[in-house]
Amino acid sequence: MTATQSFLERVQQIGETLLQAERDEPVTPYRACSELRDQLVSRIGQLAPARQGASIEAVLDGLEQIALCTPRTGSRRFFNQLFSGRTEAAAAGEMIAALLNTSMYTYKVAGPHALIETVLTQHMARFVGYEHGEGIFSPGGSLANLAAMIMARNEALPNVREHGLDGQRLAVYASGECHYSIRKNAGMIGLGRQSVRWVEVDDRGRMMPEALDAAIAADRQRGVRPVAIIATAGTTVLGAFDPIEPIADVAERHGLWLHVDGALGGSALLTERHRHLVAGAARADSWTWDAHKLMGVPLSSSVLLVRERGMLEKHFSEAAAYLFHNDEAAFDHGTRSIQCGRRNDALKLWAAWKFYGDEGYARRIDHLFDLARYAADEIERRPGLVLTCRPESITVCFEAVGKPSDAICQSLWREQRAMVGHAEVRGRRIIRMACANGEMTREDVDAFLDTVEEVAAGIPDGDNAVERR
Ligand SMILES: Cc1ncc(COP(=O)(O)O)c(C=O)c1O
Repeated sequence: MTATQSFLERVQQIGETLLQAERDEPVTPYRACSELRDQLVSRIGQLAPARQGASIEAVLDGLEQIALCTPRTGSRRFFNQLFSGRTEAAAAGEMIAALLNTSMYTYKVAGPHALIETVLTQHMARFVGYEHGEGIFSPGGSLANLAAMIMARNEALPNVREHGLDGQRLAVYASGECHYSIRKNAGMIGLGRQSVRWVEVDDRGRMMPEALDAAIAADRQRGVRPVAIIATAGTTVLGAFDPIEPIADVAERHGLWLHVDGALGGSALLTERHRHLVAGAARADSWTWDAHKLMGVPLSSSVLLVRERGMLEKHFSEAAAYLFHNDEAAFDHGTRSIQCGRRNDALKLWAAWKFYGDEGYARRIDHLFDLARYAADEIERRPGLVLTCRPESITVCFEAVGKPSDAICQSLWREQRAMVGHAEVRGRRIIRMACANGEMTREDVDAFLDTVEEVAAGIPDGDNAVERR
């Protein structure tokens, strides 16, 4: 057997051990970080690299130990994040990409992967309804939002890319339920964190277009210059969809860039049954759409789409004589990205999409939305639980009557029962259950809710009221 064969066999063995462990024990035992470090050190030695190298066998043993004590995000007891589960084709794509180690900046180095990136982003752009759109893979939804906000800023203030900001008072508009990356990005690109206006939402957490219009008008009156509107398709906690059509009317009336953060809910574009949630999608100037959330692709795989081809190059190209030689300029994607060296996040999505097909993906997304609705029905049926509001997508927010949500989440984790997170909605701390694993069934939902009730029963009473931000 060659060294390469034995290395690959050992990796396969580690993978099998890990998958078996996940079936046997869907939640890894809770360890405080110091305890976890001690455990690892006792099994594999000091974590910091030593002066002398180790054998590949020892390194692989170490990787196995680390894998086995990692939180099991792919298991049927993981409801903690907006991603979960495992699509085999996508995992294979990721592993092959690691072996290939391309960088996605030039056709010369990326070869077929540059082509695959173009094919996939155009496929996704067509789902948005962009006839002449383009796209680029980004290291996550936050950074796709960042790139969109940079484009919006540059379009509103044409000199800014060359000469920077000149002290103007600027504003961007997003709902109070938008992802935190919006405020963070505003701080990073010179608009200022204070420039973000939190537009009022309705009882389901959706931005109210009249409130948006009023906020823009009020800013104009005060001499503040509006720059962009950011609508969210699938908010992080409530999974709500801001109504794109009337928001696009407002954007058009005021001549503003409209970006849709569809990191979570962009996948609704894939299904006839749920497309109505993103009606008017093509009216937005740009979209963020994470494949690593509902599409079951390993992190990270996120795409920024823009309606107008050439827009990415206009705002992100830089000359680099050592790198960009125009061999196949259309496929030198580095001229359209905020990055230089860039991971191959396209191949795994390509593999997954070939596996599912458009129809399989539509079924997967419908299933996840249905699962969330089922969970909501179940919560409403159980007297010990209270639903925060009906879910629009895959997150289900609820409380256990009279029991503190944070303590429940912590006990579920520490007792190795399930992983789920808590958040704040309208001044209350709620449990946010995310249905992102396409393999999950109603039985998994039932088992989870039973467990929540059981654990809640053993927790002292407490209040979930929190100070509103
Ligand atoms: C609505 C929304 N936008 C953006 C993001 C950030 O995405 P990422 O984690 O890929 O950076 C999230 C993450 O949960 C999100 O929910």
